[in-house]
Amino acid sequence: MSTRDLFGDAPLNGSGQERDLARAAELRSLLHHHAHCYYTLDAPELPDSEYDRLFRELQALEAAHPELLKPDSPTQRVGGQVLDAFAQVQHRVPMLSIRTETDTEASGAEAFDARVRKELTLSEADPAVQYVAELKFDGLAMSLRYEDGLLVQAATRGDGETGEDVTANVRTIGQIPLRLPSAAPALLEVRGEVYMRRDDFEKLNERQRARMAAGIKGEKTFVNPRNAAAGAVRQLDSGIAAERPLSFFAYGWGDMASAAEGGPVWDTHFEALQQLKSWGFPVADQTSCVLGAAGLVGFHQRMARERDALPYDIDGVVYKVNRLDWQLQLGFVTREPRWAVAHKYPAQEEMTTVLSIDVQVGRTGKLTPVAKLAPVFVGGVTVTNATLHNELEARRKDVRVGDTVIVRRAGDVIPEVVSVVLDRRPADAPQFTMMSHCPVCGSLAEREEGEADHRCTGGLFCSAQRKQAVWHFAHRRAMDIEGLGDKLVDQLVDLGQVKTLADLYHLKLETLASMDRMAEKSAVNLLEALEKSKQATLPRFLFGLGIRHVGEATAKELARHFGQLDAIMVASEDALLQVPDVGPIVAHSIRTFFDQAHNREVVQALRDAGLSWTEGDALAPTEMPLAGVTVVLTGTLQSMGRDEAKDQLEALGAKVSGSVSKKTSYVVAGAEAGSKLDKAQALGVPVLDDAGLAMLLKGDKP
Ligand code: IVH
Repeated sequence: MSTRDLFGDAPLNGSGQERDLARAAELRSLLHHHAHCYYTLDAPELPDSEYDRLFRELQALEAAHPELLKPDSPTQRVGGQVLDAFAQVQHRVPMLSIRTETDTEASGAEAFDARVRKELTLSEADPAVQYVAELKFDGLAMSLRYEDGLLVQAATRGDGETGEDVTANVRTIGQIPLRLPSAAPALLEVRGEVYMRRDDFEKLNERQRARMAAGIKGEKTFVNPRNAAAGAVRQLDSGIAAERPLSFFAYGWGDMASAAEGGPVWDTHFEALQQLKSWGFPVADQTSCVLGAAGLVGFHQRMARERDALPYDIDGVVYKVNRLDWQLQLGFVTREPRWAVAHKYPAQEEMTTVLSIDVQVGRTGKLTPVAKLAPVFVGGVTVTNATLHNELEARRKDVRVGDTVIVRRAGDVIPEVVSVVLDRRPADAPQFTMMSHCPVCGSLAEREEGEADHRCTGGLFCSAQRKQAVWHFAHRRAMDIEGLGDKLVDQLVDLGQVKTLADLYHLKLETLASMDRMAEKSAVNLLEALEKSKQATLPRFLFGLGIRHVGEATAKELARHFGQLDAIMVASEDALLQVPDVGPIVAHSIRTFFDQAHNREVVQALRDAGLSWTEGDALAPTEMPLAGVTVVLTGTLQSMGRDEAKDQLEALGAKVSGSVSKKTSYVVAGAEAGSKLDKAQALGVPVLDDAGLAMLLKGDKP
């Protein structure tokens, strides 16, 4: 027998111990208050670090004096108890289920109201019945038993008569009070739903995937938040349950001290919920008092709209007769109350299989993997496609052809694969990899560093991007082709009249005039605009090509620096990097664009069609930072190869020579430099190492 059993809560001897006792009580009280602010009110009054400090102080006190440990101590939320099996719990007041109105239309609510009125023998002259309309949370029902204000037992519904004792796990749920204020009755069972928020669910699955990837045995992902919540509640190891983020909403009560025993006296369901809320239980803000069938229908419709914005899943709403004396009068049939009904919404998640994973090319060249699904009715429509967004996302969720997946369609949001049911994966289903070439035009598909999306580099050539390309080309700030609007571009491309930009300049009057909403006059005007656009400027033309990352300003800089289109088309990435505002990503993008034969062909075809601009000279060599500098490279450089150093130096205007003379400005000498270094020293030519070269390449002369 421990000292605690012997002495119960009797004061401890000695002033130090008394102080500890008082401090422990104070800490418990503080932590209860702040946990309530944090978990239930979502309005913390303390920074997390301060809460943690108080928490650790209490933990330390309890460790030093185990007799201070109370069952309602917040330190008991962290779990730790491991069970062989759950004990059975006999519900003293059965946990009922509710009849579900399967009709998801408004008539479901009307039928319920009509039934209630009939049972209560109300006539048409009687006023509308008042109802409490609640959300139907998609979790699992829980009964929380409080004796003398302390949480003593948490039990699942089970078959309604007998459930399981899951107290250790439920203690870990921050939103559930471990202790009630003194105003609460000596005996109270609060009933409600344990659930998992969607964001917590996603985070949990993310963690589970990481564990699986790390090869930890027995780990799996969860199909949906309800499953994850149920799994957590039924954990035999409460330490594991504590790691699973659960939440709670109260919506009713069970066994309770009678009025004679000092129990609460409630007239309505709504009043009871308000009281539960005042005792620290989370009650959903949406819970409303409404009047008659019209009020119910209004709530059903409003929640259907708000449903997608909720941070947790609901599968419908619940209507309850507000007056408790009427609830009593209405009673039960079998195990369902006649005073309540659930009114469902169409399911937002369903299971189906992945038939294939296609890759679609968007107007901007973005490659999107799309799971083609066996048709499934979800969120009110038949879904056959679900976007996988990009390769990283497809890999993260590890969706494979042949997989059974959970598909979610919430509101008007495009359908999504939530997760894969791994147990049902066929053997040797291959992992998804993004193709290296555009499925539409065969051009290289690339993913830039730091970006999630692959893009087709086909630009002008790719038919998937053609409309966008034409539209951009015609843009006021590009070739400024007035009268070539979006709708017309769509038609011309769809009808095959414009396959490449150059086709624009071969359009016939009859063709244009035959387009939708095109009068002969506008067709004539457009032809004139096209003709006029042939007198272009290099910056406008460059911008009009729609090279990724080349905006107007960059186009101007490129034109100024190189003077001629041909020079830009052959410039190396290093040479491009010398242009103000051009960084590695832009340089790479320009280089890749002109490396595609298709793109060069389109440029040629445009020139052949008569497009021209005045070309200037490249920036005079004297304007370049290393103009007039002659460099000799020798030995093995650390920072880059000799060829690369040469390219970079030349791009800055330096001359790179093979032999050292009195005219040599610098000799850059790497490891094992031989005779050239000797000669430089003999002639007094400055010798640079890698650091000196780096300075040169920044345009500084060491
Ligand atoms: S009331 C006597 N209210 O739906 C009525 N149940 O079959 C008892 N549920 O598993 C239930 N949200 O866990 C009620 N606002 C709500 C609810 C709700 C979800 C669940 C409950 C039970 C099922 C009812």
